[in-house]
Amino acid sequence: MPISVTLTVNGSRVTREVEGRTLLVQLLRDQLGLTGTHIGCDTSQCGACVVHVNGASVKSCTMLAAQADGADVMTIEGLAAPDGTLHPMQEAFRHYHGLQCGFCTPGMVMSAIDLLKHNPDPTEKEVREGLEGNICRCTGYHNIVRAVLACADAMKAQPLAAE
Ligand code: FES
Ligand code: FES
Repeated sequence: MPISVTLTVNGSRVTREVEGRTLLVQLLRDQLGLTGTHIGCDTSQCGACVVHVNGASVKSCTMLAAQADGADVMTIEGLAAPDGTLHPMQEAFRHYHGLQCGFCTPGMVMSAIDLLKHNPDPTEKEVREGLEGNICRCTGYHNIVRAVLACADAMKAQPLAAE
C-alpha cells in the first residue's frame, strides 16, 4: 500500500508516493533524481549515503522514506549557493585534493559538515574519529583530513549560516 510522504529537500517541498519499505536514499535517488547521494553498501557500513535530516547527518540507507515525512533534508546537491559558489567544505575538498574517484565524497562532505557543527575546532585525531563511519577506498584519508581541518580554520574566520 503506497504511503504519501511530504518533506523538504534542499529547500523545496516535495510529495511522493512510496512503499513502506522504500529507503530514504531510494526516494532521493530514484524518485527525486538526486544521485549525488551514493549507495556503497546499503548495510550502514560505508557512509556514501549520508545526508542531513533536520540538520543532523544520517545514513540515508538506514532510514525509511516514510520516517522522513515532514523532515527537512539536505543533500550534497543543496550545499552550493545558487550562483554555483561551493560550500566551504566542498571548496576545501577541492583545494586539498580530498578525493580521487569521488564515490565517497558526498557522504564525507556531509559528515564533515556535521562534525564541525558539533566540534568547530577539532584535532586531527578528532576528525579521523568523527569520520570513521565513512569509508574511502582511494585516498588513504590524509587529504580528506587536511581538507576538514582547513575548512574548520576557514569557518572560524567566517562562520556558516545555520541550515
Ligand atoms: Fe548507506 Fe553504505 S550506502 S552506509
Ligand atoms: Fe574514491 Fe573515496 S575518493 S572512494
